[in-house]
Amino acid sequence: MNEERNPAASWDRRYREGDIPWDRGEPSPALVDWLARGRLGGPRVLVPGCGAGHEVVMLAGRGFHVTAVDFAASAIESLARRLAEQGLDADLECADLLHWQPAAPFDAIYEQTSLCALEPGNWRAYADALAGWLRPGGELFALFMQTARAGGPPWHCDPIAMHRLFRAPAWHWLDVPARTVPHPAGFHERPAVLRRGTGRAS
Ligand SMILES: C[S@@+](CC[C@H](N)C(=O)[O-])C[C@H]1O[C@@H](n2cnc3c(N)ncnc32)[C@H](O)[C@@H]1O
Repeated sequence: MNEERNPAASWDRRYREGDIPWDRGEPSPALVDWLARGRLGGPRVLVPGCGAGHEVVMLAGRGFHVTAVDFAASAIESLARRLAEQGLDADLECADLLHWQPAAPFDAIYEQTSLCALEPGNWRAYADALAGWLRPGGELFALFMQTARAGGPPWHCDPIAMHRLFRAPAWHWLDVPARTVPHPAGFHERPAVLRRGTGRAS
């Protein structure tokens, strides 16, 4: 199957060739800040579209029970090696987020530039899936990509569009800091914490 029809192969090739301009090489300062403030609760945390998984390593090192999902096999394989080298443990799944289901809902989800990697036509299904993966009262720690340009990936996650996508009663917006987080590819991310309500997602 060609890469256009098989996005997993295309992302996987980029990891194999080291063509990964989105990779910080270290955990996001947003996660470091949320952890330093004791903001991120657990213990069960999901990291969808984990990529190289610097945040997975940090969360596992802090004692969280982490599940990380990505459909790029080489990213998952190298993350497994890193975790093993550091004597850490996490559940790693090589799967397509648009078809994946966990065995049980999570207390928190750390979503960093995974939504912006998906075609906008898949955003509603993905947002509904995120709602289904979180327990009621669980929290979504999101970094919404700001590119201020058309096209993607990464696709621009316009703040108004994000409020429409993640809306009550399924979602309640809690912390929306004014600051943005610089992204290694030259863009910015808008951090936000959203609580899962009890209502249906859509
Ligand atoms: C821009 S990268 C971000 C990786 C990581 N979160 C980071 O910030 O370094 C997007 C990631 O999402 C993964 N991805 C994209 N679409 C996916 C899908 N449908 N299912 C699973 N993973 C997906 C890609 O393989 C890639 O690792």
